[in-house]
Amino acid sequence: MNAAVFASGSGTNLEALLRREEAGDLDCHIDLVIVDQENAYARQRARQHGVEQHWIRPRDFSNKEEYETRILELLKAHDIQLIILAGYMRYIGQVLLQAYPYQIINIHPAYLPEFPGAHGIADAFDAKASQTGVTVHYVDAGVDTGPVILQERVAIDPKWDLETLEEHVHAKEYDLFYRAVNQAVREIQARS
Ligand code: GRF
Repeated sequence: MNAAVFASGSGTNLEALLRREEAGDLDCHIDLVIVDQENAYARQRARQHGVEQHWIRPRDFSNKEEYETRILELLKAHDIQLIILAGYMRYIGQVLLQAYPYQIINIHPAYLPEFPGAHGIADAFDAKASQTGVTVHYVDAGVDTGPVILQERVAIDPKWDLETLEEHVHAKEYDLFYRAVNQAVREIQARS
């Protein structure tokens, strides 16, 4: 099964998945990377691993439908059956949701429904929570709301600063994401 990874930034989760694929631990093939930011380092990581990457600039399109229709052309050309959001800071619209029902998954750096939104790690830190976590879920029309595929806890040591908490949450992401991707692949195959 071919997968596409969408990213907006550094792409450390993309890197972790690419390494898992190269180690033979990923049950799909990452065939395409899509970014919405010209300077996203995820592009560099894709190049280093020999994966085709495209920067699709949203403001080149007059609305989200046209933007996603362009992305859909690329997805179809690459026979993509799974979309993996890995730090993609943009809501998914109806064009992609309808073309890929329960075939789009997202990683969130908290234990949903706790701490949704763009600052999951900092929000858990500011709340002085005793634990947080990582969630991988299917994407639906809500924000951080779709059915959970896999989620695991990270205990927070009250002595940690925000940076240390970020390190622990990211380490959990790299460990959990490929397992969640593999579970989604099995579920998508079982449905088709
Ligand atoms: C991750 O923490 C992910 O959970 C969140 O955005 C961050 C992306 O980091 N959605 P990176 O680009 O994979 O390094």
